Amino acid sequence: MTDRYAVFGNPVAHSQSPWIHTRFAELTGQDLRYDRMEAPVGGFDQALRAFVADGGRGLNVTVPFKQDAWHAVDQRSQRATRAGAVNTIVVTEGDKLFGDNTDGVGLLRDLRDNHGLAVTGSRVLLLGAGGAVRGVLEPLTKAAPAGLVIANRTVERAQALLPLCGDIPTAACGFAELARMEPFDLVINGTSAGLSGSMPDLPPALFTEGAAAYDMVYGATRTVFMGWSRNAGAETVLDGLGMLVEQAAESFLLWRGVRPETSGVITALREKLTQG
Ligand code: ATR
Repeated sequence: MTDRYAVFGNPVAHSQSPWIHTRFAELTGQDLRYDRMEAPVGGFDQALRAFVADGGRGLNVTVPFKQDAWHAVDQRSQRATRAGAVNTIVVTEGDKLFGDNTDGVGLLRDLRDNHGLAVTGSRVLLLGAGGAVRGVLEPLTKAAPAGLVIANRTVERAQALLPLCGDIPTAACGFAELARMEPFDLVINGTSAGLSGSMPDLPPALFTEGAAAYDMVYGATRTVFMGWSRNAGAETVLDGLGMLVEQAAESFLLWRGVRPETSGVITALREKLTQG
């Protein structure tokens, strides 16, 4: 019987996950079907139970249900526990639910393996303090940057994340304070400002020579943050399309025990998006 998987979100029509996982299944010869499921806000638990009762073997979870998913599972990985959010659920024996968060691993794989960017020993700036940033904190701090600064419009939200950063040198601040800091080798945008076409209010002298800027969101064209970073002197500017595919590959590995080759899928997804 064909195993069933799905991405749960609201809205979910834009999700590329079915396309990505269908490619992965073809590449690895796995027999599975992967759908989009739009659950009503406030109705995640019910939709999840119905999917599992119907034979669903695993799910991805996207906005706004990652915290609902965290509460709904029976057991969590350490990285999901720390993130306070679950983006992958594995249905295990007896229909028990295991929750994981593959976003941070996806980001690191994209940075390091796909783009050859060093995190270890680098000065890293994370912009934002919401779910997107929380989701990547554990793997990012484990990669041992020389220093990590979390800057957010609402400073208290950035400060609240400091206890999750382990023992690497970390600071939290507002955007204006960045003007008084040493520049950064890697700046990662985890704010949702770009979704409304705006930009965090950043000082211009943010980047070291040869620095990289990474936007966790992606689109058919260069994001506002990417354009701003290029003008502000970043040598490498990247969007989060690779992160999307890499977090999906990590989910696929959890479900199927095989890691798909990602590079061809990233290239094909980029073409798909630019062609509309
Ligand atoms: P997500 O799950 O996408 O991270 P979130 O938890 O609502 O969503 O967090 C959104 C993040 O983007 C927050 O860090 C938010 O800043 P505040 O904590 O001050 O609200 C940030 N953000 C959203 N719009 C922004 C803007 N126009 N300028 C700067 N930061 C913005």
